[in-house]
Amino acid sequence: MSEPKQLSLKRLHVITWGCQMNVYDSLRMADVLAPLGYAPVGSPQDADMVILNTCHIRDRAAEKVFSELGRLRRIKDARAAEGGRMILAVAGCVAQAEGAEILARAPYVDIVLGPQTYHRLPEMVARAAHAAHGDNARGDKQGAIIETDFPAEDKFDFLPEASAPQGLSAFLTIQEGCDKFCSFCVVPYTRGAESSRPAEAVLAEARKLVAQGAREIVLLGQNVNAWHGAAPAAPDGGVWGLGRLLREMAEIPGVARLRYTTSHPRDMDDALIAAHRDLPLLMPFLHLPVQSGSDRVLAAMNRRHTADDYKRLIERLRAARPGLALSSDFIVGHPGETAADFADTLALVREIGFAQAFSFKYSARPGTPAAGAPGQVPEAEKDQRLYALQALLREQQARFNAGCVGLTLPVLFTGPGRHAGQIAGRSPFLQPVHMTGPATLIGQEIPVHIAAAHTNSLSATPLEERACA
Ligand code: 5AD
Ligand code: SF4
Repeated sequence: MSEPKQLSLKRLHVITWGCQMNVYDSLRMADVLAPLGYAPVGSPQDADMVILNTCHIRDRAAEKVFSELGRLRRIKDARAAEGGRMILAVAGCVAQAEGAEILARAPYVDIVLGPQTYHRLPEMVARAAHAAHGDNARGDKQGAIIETDFPAEDKFDFLPEASAPQGLSAFLTIQEGCDKFCSFCVVPYTRGAESSRPAEAVLAEARKLVAQGAREIVLLGQNVNAWHGAAPAAPDGGVWGLGRLLREMAEIPGVARLRYTTSHPRDMDDALIAAHRDLPLLMPFLHLPVQSGSDRVLAAMNRRHTADDYKRLIERLRAARPGLALSSDFIVGHPGETAADFADTLALVREIGFAQAFSFKYSARPGTPAAGAPGQVPEAEKDQRLYALQALLREQQARFNAGCVGLTLPVLFTGPGRHAGQIAGRSPFLQPVHMTGPATLIGQEIPVHIAAAHTNSLSATPLEERACA
């Protein structure tokens, strides 16, 4: 394929909502548009093209999209009044789930593209440019472009190599989609069936990220530990799982830290648990959603594990990696959840002890099995349960953070802190850490003394300072 000609500079603004995978997708959309002459700008006012990369997982996603589109339309109209043009694209999971609705309700949108089609973006932009000219001539509204099929080709085979450097901590999508079909979740419908990128491609991208300055690599996937790949010319042949992939990643010179997210308890296999035991670079922090502590609700959610399965799994992980810190996702008020079921969730949280966690009120996603299920829980009841759960989780997080005070922890400093003279980074347990210190430490992973704990972060002092105190 010939390289597209470098065109005059155009300005691209991407608005990203939702998960880390959307953040990664937004970077890759900027990558595919770079050869067309698009460079990122910080605000839609200045942009020739705006992409709204949307999330559909919870809450009133579509309403949020239409209200943001209303704001962008005013900018687009103002541009048109000045004789200019702005291309407006809606990407991501809302585009996938509600593409037709978007074109009907917001006909000023030029492009609607699902998460599996962003490798086709350059072609869509070219078509949108033509369509816009046609519009002007005809004065009618044609030519809006919608690409929300799950294409036969794998988008990763058609994307150029990632080009925009991500900095010291870099995301790398290794897996997309999900076959688990949890009752409440839109992901299997918006992101499609589970699909894994080949090991060779993942390792090549990891090497490139390191060459661009990354020290930490965060492997991403909706169900990342379902990742499996044909072994690349490996003497042992066969298929690799995530545990094996992590071992290979840890061998890449320059990699200091590895993480992965988000996992399903059913896909935590022995090799992955062993990776937590054997790989010091694999950070001792795991986000492993359990969603509920009630077996009845877990069954209704189609999670295919019990509370006890989860607890036993955590025991094995903690035995493999003493000190492993845990994070989770919880949903309160899934259809059919009783007060007793919710009490089981609180009991599970107390028994396990989380370093941090995310908790949500169940919200019906159209098209998912739980949306039409009997036993919908009243909003006020969900509010109360969420309040109680979050109080407990906050207490556990505070205890965990306080427990770090006085310890020496390695921190990877990734940038300046909020205040002058400060630098900031992350602990092994993903806690934000700030410290007064020179900018020369940015990019390094160094042991520091944890001096104080705050709600969501820690403050540190250099080790030498402590020795003199
Ligand atoms: N309602 C509330 N929370 C949800 N999540 C996913 N779907 C829903 C829903 N319909 C939560 C789950 C998941 C996280 C990413 O979002 O806890 O793990
Ligand atoms: Fe959704 Fe995660 Fe369940 Fe897959 S495993 S259906 S992504 S909640």
